Amino acid sequence: MTVSSAPGKVYLFGEHAVVYGEPAVPCAIERRATVAVESRDDDRLRVHLSDLSIDGFTVEYSGSTDETPDVNVSESLVQAGIGYIDAAIEQARDATDRPDAGFDITVESDIPLGAGLGSSAAVTVAAIDAATREVGVSLSSDEIADRAYRAELTVQDGEASRADTFCSATGGAVRVEGDDCRAVKSPELPIVVGFDGGAGDTGKLVAGVRALREEYEFAGDTVQSIGDIVRQGERALAEGDTEELGRLMNFNHGLLEALGVSSRSLDNMVWAARDAGALGAKLTGAGGGGCIVALDPTDETETALRFTPGCEDAFRAELDTEGVREE
Ligand code: PMV
Repeated sequence: MTVSSAPGKVYLFGEHAVVYGEPAVPCAIERRATVAVESRDDDRLRVHLSDLSIDGFTVEYSGSTDETPDVNVSESLVQAGIGYIDAAIEQARDATDRPDAGFDITVESDIPLGAGLGSSAAVTVAAIDAATREVGVSLSSDEIADRAYRAELTVQDGEASRADTFCSATGGAVRVEGDDCRAVKSPELPIVVGFDGGAGDTGKLVAGVRALREEYEFAGDTVQSIGDIVRQGERALAEGDTEELGRLMNFNHGLLEALGVSSRSLDNMVWAARDAGALGAKLTGAGGGGCIVALDPTDETETALRFTPGCEDAFRAELDTEGVREE
């Protein structure tokens, strides 16, 4: 059996705008998805998945999304999770020239699904690493990131940036602009995450921003302004200026809100964090529900979030400098 894990991430800046070629700065956090893979004698896949937000379940199928697995947990999130694993295994089969390889796969994750913390990227990255190593092939983190990006593209109908998958494969804080992905230096950041227990539909939210951008010039300007915030944010990160980072995160959240991708529970959590004295707070990821990220060196934000209506969980998240790794 071969086991790999990969971290989730928060977006310090730049989600949505990154889809239109603006830069984004995601940052890996110490919450991981772990994938265990064991070769089978046949070409089938048997997947057992457990996650913070769903009960564990097992499904066996032959590894093609045409054959929809018959699961008794009818959650669309579960189907989505299967889609990413399926696409990851296709990439692993391709990378190892073993188109008929079958696997028993167990996924465990402490990253909430679809909540803006990069759960799908972490599962995809860890699955590619574990499945390729299981058949004796070791890929570089850059190749894993590239293959995980291609897997996400197939699941998300061609709408994905390289940000999540690159960040999960390499760890640390990264900067992504189009196909240009690189690590950036980051100080220790006092990251606090608030989770509303829900999830947003990334495809729909991305399509919504696309429609706004096509209809209103100022929506396009808003996307460009997010790019300006990211460039300013990179300088603040390099200087270790967490106060400026917080101010820019607040600004970034306002623009995401203007683009229609926030929600009442996300806004409630953002305001609770600001009222508690956080340096800044914003939604992270696609939005619509899920998580916010705040910067606060004290315990005040975490405590306040726990008493905020609509907040289901709040936790401190350390920056994870390690990307995908063998377990
Ligand atoms: O919610 P997440 O973690 O899947 O992040 C989505 C980020 C977007 O910029 C909205 C889309 C993308 O692929 O970059």
